[in-house]
Parts: sequence; C-alpha cells; structure tokens
Amino acid sequence: MSDLSASPVIPVNTVTRLADYRVPEFLIEKTHLTFELYEEYTDVSSRLTITRNPKSTKADDLVLHGEQLELRSLAIGERTLHPGDYQITPHSLTVRNVPEQFVLHCTVRIYPEKNTALEGLYCSSGMYCTQCEAEGFRKITYYLDRPDVMSEFETVIIAREGAFSTMLSNGNCLSDTMQDGKRIVHWHDPFKKPSYLFALVAGNLVCLEDHFITQSGREVLLQIHTEAKDHDKCHFAMQSLKKAMHWDEQTYGREYDLDRFMIVAVDDFNMGAMENKGLNIFNTSCVLAHPASTTDAAFQRVEGVIAHEYFHNWSGNRVTCRDWFQLSLKEGLTVYRDSEFSADMNSRAVKRIEDVNLLRSVQFVEDAGPMAHPVRPDAYMEISNFYTVTIYEKGAEVVRMLANILGSERYRQATDLYFDRFDGQAVTCDDFVQCMEEVSGRDLSQFRLWYSQAGTPQLHISDSYDADHQQYSLTVHQHTPATPGQTEKKALHIPLKVALYGNQGALALIIDGQIRDAETVLDICQTQQTIVFEQVAEHPVPSLLRGFSAPVRVFYDYQLDQLQKLILLDSDGFCRWDAMQSLMRIVLSKAIDNKGDHAEQAMLMDTLRRLLTDHTAMDAALLARMLELPGEQYLASLYDKANPPAINQARTQLQHKLATQLQTELMSCYQALQNSASGLSAQAMAARNLRNQALMYLLQIDDTHYRDLAQQQFSQADNMTDQFAALRGLVHAEHARIEAQAALQVFYQQWQHEALVVNMWFQVQATRPWGNVLQEIQQLLQHAAFDARNPNKLRAVIAAFANQNFARFHDSSGNAYQFLAEQIADIDQRNPQMASRLLTPLTHWHQFIDEHASLMRKALESLSQRELSKDVYEVVSKSLNERNVG
Ligand code: TRP
Ligand code: ZN
Repeated sequence: MSDLSASPVIPVNTVTRLADYRVPEFLIEKTHLTFELYEEYTDVSSRLTITRNPKSTKADDLVLHGEQLELRSLAIGERTLHPGDYQITPHSLTVRNVPEQFVLHCTVRIYPEKNTALEGLYCSSGMYCTQCEAEGFRKITYYLDRPDVMSEFETVIIAREGAFSTMLSNGNCLSDTMQDGKRIVHWHDPFKKPSYLFALVAGNLVCLEDHFITQSGREVLLQIHTEAKDHDKCHFAMQSLKKAMHWDEQTYGREYDLDRFMIVAVDDFNMGAMENKGLNIFNTSCVLAHPASTTDAAFQRVEGVIAHEYFHNWSGNRVTCRDWFQLSLKEGLTVYRDSEFSADMNSRAVKRIEDVNLLRSVQFVEDAGPMAHPVRPDAYMEISNFYTVTIYEKGAEVVRMLANILGSERYRQATDLYFDRFDGQAVTCDDFVQCMEEVSGRDLSQFRLWYSQAGTPQLHISDSYDADHQQYSLTVHQHTPATPGQTEKKALHIPLKVALYGNQGALALIIDGQIRDAETVLDICQTQQTIVFEQVAEHPVPSLLRGFSAPVRVFYDYQLDQLQKLILLDSDGFCRWDAMQSLMRIVLSKAIDNKGDHAEQAMLMDTLRRLLTDHTAMDAALLARMLELPGEQYLASLYDKANPPAINQARTQLQHKLATQLQTELMSCYQALQNSASGLSAQAMAARNLRNQALMYLLQIDDTHYRDLAQQQFSQADNMTDQFAALRGLVHAEHARIEAQAALQVFYQQWQHEALVVNMWFQVQATRPWGNVLQEIQQLLQHAAFDARNPNKLRAVIAAFANQNFARFHDSSGNAYQFLAEQIADIDQRNPQMASRLLTPLTHWHQFIDEHASLMRKALESLSQRELSKDVYEVVSKSLNERNVG
C-alpha cells in the first residue's frame, strides 16, 4: 500500500469528520455562470458575489474547491489576478487576503466529452448533463462546494446555433435569443440553493408537457424531456408526478414553488435520479415506462422515484443539509415520504413488506459488517460512499418511528414547524428531532441515539402466562452488537407495536390498569423490561413488531401452530407475511443444519395449501409475497458463519418440494387468474404477480406441460410483466435449457432496440442460478449491446450477478470473487462511484464460513495492490481492516 499513499493525485488518508465542522468563512450571495459549449471543451465563466461570513471569526484567505479544472482567467472586481496572487492544488484554489466583500470573476475550461466518471458536466449519448451531488460542482468551476453555502443562481448557456434543441438550467427561463450564429439561453433560479442542486442540460430532446394547478391556484408547467424515440414512454411518469404533487399538498401541506418543473431522462447515470431544483435529472430506467416494454415492478419504481425526487423540493431543497453528515436529514425523510406515498397509491402491506425485505437482507448486513455506520456518520473519506441503505432506508425507519411516536396529527404539526422554521436554511438531523420534541413535548434525548449509534438492535423476547392471576407478561431484552469504532452500545428507545391474539381474535389490552387499543406501542427504553398485561383470560399468541415498528431483529420462540394462527388471522398484512417468513425460515434452517423437519414442513405445506385454495379471500399481491421463500442473502445473515452452497441447496430443494406437493393448487390458481383484468390497476398487477409466482413454482418441476405453459405465456403475453416472468422462469429452470435458448433469442430480436429491455435480457442471464454462468457473463461483456461505460449495463450484468445470483456468485472456487475484483479495478479507471458500489457484495465476507470469507478477502486484497480511486480505496481498506476511520 506504500505506492498508494505516495500517489500524487489521491490524498488517500484524508478523513472528513463531523467533529471538525466549522461554518463557512465566506458566503456566496449570487452565482452567475456562463457556459460556452464547444465540441471539444466547455468554457465556464463565473461571477461570484462573495462576502465574509459574519458568523466566522477567521477569514483572510479565500479557499475554493476545484478539481480537474483548467484555469483561464481570474479577477477580483476589475483587478486581474496573476499566478503569484493565488495558489492552485489538485483540489483547491486559494486567493490570499481578499476584501470583506468582492466579486470574483473566473473562467475555467473543462472537458465534458472526456468525463467518464459521470460527475460534474458530462456527455451522455450526445446530450450534455450534470450531476453535482454530492461534490461534483467543483468539477465545473471553482466554488465553495458545500451545502451550507446557499446562493442565488443565474445561468447562461451558449452554443452554436442549431447544435441543441433544448438548453436547460434551474428555475425560470429569462430569455432565449440568437446572436452571431449562437444561441444564448438565460436561466434564473430565485431560490437560494447549495451548488449540489445546480443542473444544466443541453441536447436534442423532445418534451411532453402538462400542467398542474397548485392548492393556492397557481399553474405550474410540467415538462419531461427525452430523446425522440422515448417520447411515448413518458405518460406514466407525468401521471405519477401529478399524483405526487397532489399528495404532498394533501399530506404535508407542501406546494410547489416555481412556475415550471422539468424532468430530463439520461441514459448514463450513476444513480436513480437527482432532485436538482426545478430540473430533476433521471436515469432513463426510473422515468421511462410503457406497458409493452415495462414490468409492473418497474412501473412502481418509476412512480416511487418520481415522487421521491419531487418530494425533495421541500425535504432537501427548500430545507437542505448543513453538511454531508446530515445526508439522512433529506434522504431518510424523503424515503419515508415516498414510501408512504407508494403505500397510499398501491397496497400498503406489500409496500411495507418490500421495504422490510430490503432492510433485512441488505441494511442489516451492512450494519453488521465492516462498512457499518450510523444514520449520521462521524467520519468519511469519500462522501459518495455514504449513499447507503443505512442513510436511506434505516434513516427512513427512524423518521417512521418518530411519526409513530408522535401520531399523525402531531407529526404533521412538527413537519410544518420544521419546514417553516428552516425554510431557506441548511440544517441538521438534530434540528429535525428538535421540532418533533417541541411539538410533542416528549423527551427524545434517548431516541436521538438512533442517529449516532450504528448496528441493528436485537430484541430477545420471552413470555409467560399466569392463569391464576390472568396475567400475561412479555420480557424484552435489547442488545446492539458492536460495530467498527463503536464497541459500547447504549439502550435505545424502541417503539414495539404489539397485539395479542386469543381464540376469538385480538384481545383488549390492559397495562397498569389502563385500557389500551387492541394494538399498542410499548416504549422499550431499558436493557431489560417486562410488560404485564392484565385480565388476560387465555394464553395468547403475541403479534410482535407490528407493521415493523422499529428497525430491529426480534427473537421469540414461536410454536408452529402459533405461527400458523398469525399467518391465517393477523389483521396486519405485514405480520402475516412475517409469520410466514418465520415458518419458512424454521423449515429451511432445519434443512441447512441437516435436522429432521417433518413437522415443520407439514405445517408449512398445510398453511400454504389453505392460502392457495382460498386465494380469492385475500389480496393477491400479498399472497404472492407470502409464497416467496426468504432470500438467500437474508438466510445467510441469520448465521454467524453462513455456508452459501448449503443455503442455496436447502432453498432450492424446498422450492422444488413445495412445487411438487402443491402442484394442483398452484395450477388451479394459475388458471383461475388467467383471465384477470389487463392494464395497470392495482388489482391487475396483483393478479399477474400471483399468477407468475405460481408459474415460477410450477417451473421447478421437470415437466413439459409446465414448460409449454411458460412458452405459451411468453409468446402470447400482451405486457412485459408476463412475458418477462415466463422468460425468467424458463431461463432459470435447468431442465428448460432448450426452451430458454429459443425464448432468449426471440426476446432479443423483439427488443433489441429498447435499451432498458436489453438490460433485462442481460440481467436474466446474469442471475441464472445454474451452470457456468461466469463463462457466459464473460460472453455477455463482449456482446455488441454491452457498454462498460453505461452504469445500467454494468448493473444489469455485473451487479446483478454479484448481488442477485447468490448460488453462482458464491461458487466455492472463488472465481466469481476474483472476477468481480478485476472488473472493479477496470471500472475504477473510468467511474470510481460505480466501481465502489459494485464492491458491496465483497464487503460481506464476514457473513460466511472461512472457506468463502478468505476467498472474498483474497479478492479484496488483490484490489488493494492496485492503484485505486479514493472511493474504492475507502471501501477496500475498511472492509479488510475492520477498524473504522472514526
Ligand atoms: N439525491 C439523489 C437521490 O434522490 C441521489 C443521487 C443521485 C446521487 N445521483 C447521485 C448521490 C450521484 C451521489 C452521486 O437520492
Ligand atoms: Zn433522495
């Protein structure tokens, strides 16, 4: 690693700490930018109105951020500065002894055409676009590129006449003129914002337009800009946007503020989408949708991401983050907001199940490994590495807990206070909690630990029933395992929502002589706590952590018949699913540990049979979820040291067994749903979901009848959900190779001109659980449609293989680990953010038995020998050396 620290460009050991936060020494009142776009380069001229920050004591030198910029001219007011007057490093520009107040003029040259990192200003299929969050603006011009410096932006875009049909920036368009063969477009954003929310787009795009009348009666112009070929795939996003705007008015009283709201679809994008003020930029995968070429799951993702970015206008833009340690202030809150929106638009229980599944199978794993960090981290090397499931999903759970603790009315009052009090400011997570505290009058000091303490709390719950005194008691013991840099953990404030089921349904609850609702929240605040329920006439079945009321792991020793009762009767859909997961988990762990599992299997089979037979009695989408076995990733996380082949084998065998024994029920369910409604109604989607789940099971059985069924569905489908489910079923069934080959070919022929569908074609092959997939992946990487510079393609092949093909990625040879490391080293040369994200599965080595763990570490070590970006370096070094930077 010595050659690494000697690397001149990468300051490998620079750690930024929350404890070192200082207010900015200067403020930038106004930012005026002029972009001259030429074929080979872009010149960016800035005019910054700078003042000393009255809140800062020391300020002699102005130090601006800047990376990969070619300085062409620099002046303070009328005075041109010369090389002796300033100092440039690879990361900064320093001007000595500047006045109290001045205008800085600066021109730099940048090369968007050569920008493969997709950060700053870059080109994506002929279109210019920007991605500035978190610290990309400094690749556009010298600036105070930190979120607590908020400025009013004006942007002028100049290009050769006819070069671009569309030239956009934030805010309102002031003018659009021609002069000397050049087109000049002038934009102004009246709202102060940090540089990370700046955006610019120039390209040949078409636009879908609509309008929205806000609650106060203002008309807002809505635009979605795409390449002409995608014009017909914007309607769903537009409808979603209008729903989101309406929902935010109804639910949070938040109205949109500018006269126009623009969305641009971009093919090359490191993440899902970006909430730039008035000009959201979207990965095509999160905005384009058409029934013929988009699955139901993708439709729901579009709806969710459109809402997410739109909601950021208040939770993120109007009220923003003081520093990047507060990232969850905007992300956690916005994810909570978008998940509630999706729950209101679709099935609430199913949305909750999806979120919990993600949390358990990915966030809990992150929180138990070398990359574990609190919702508000204390230190980072590269902030891009902290756009994690912990910041987003656990952060959202923390907001959800607050909302539940306060109750909906108080929560709304508290968010009103938060948005009003901090409008136009850059604030902290603590400011947010403070509002919750003030409105509710509750002491949330212990609750605040959720922001500072990493790791997933474990609740061990035991119970006892005293028939003589008619008392039932629950004893809850909480413990949070150590995480890197945090060995001592304190007891958290955990809202544990419970109900008790008796023979006639939920029981009335009496605690301390107080009558409560049948569903009640227990405030667990101590390491060990016993809650006594009075006047309990029978031994009840506890329904624990209802609605997943806190991001914790619950351990309670359920009897099989208790689980069955909850599965069949619990009024909380999430709990029904969760009880089913527990039952399946019990069966699977017996199999993994080679223990007899007859009683458990019989109970599982009986329960599934009842549900399937009576499938019309419940929400089909929920049933589809309940049929699904726990994922391998999640199963692995339940072990101290998981054995990947054993887990995969147990799961595959159980799936086969279920299919064989329930074939009649599955088949009649499939047939009963064959003539369900088409279209995108919740009911139609739910029916497809359940039917395709049934098909997936049936395809576990080696029988031409089911293969024919799948082939038929594949060729007759009038929507992508059914077509793709059939394709996936065939490709993933080892006995269907012949049919799969044919279907893959037809599918490619049919969809080769739709990039997003080609990605699905890549993905379905990369996730095939049998055979020498690694070899086929090598071939896919050579395929004409593959492009290693496009993040969606990398996700479809490499990330899909590493994250969604548990069986083959964890092949005992370790070849897949080595393959991933090599790919990362290569990708890192072009796109460090992508390379770093692809590393995640290797950082989970600690989950596995030594054979696998050491092979994974070996792959990480081989990477550490290479010259790495700061992004990849941080993840590699932390995962190899369990000690944290904190
Ligand atoms: N703020 C974006 C969101 O809504 C996240 C994001 C988009 C991002 N692009 C990025 C973060 C690039 C880091 C780098 O969640
Ligand atoms: Zn976000």
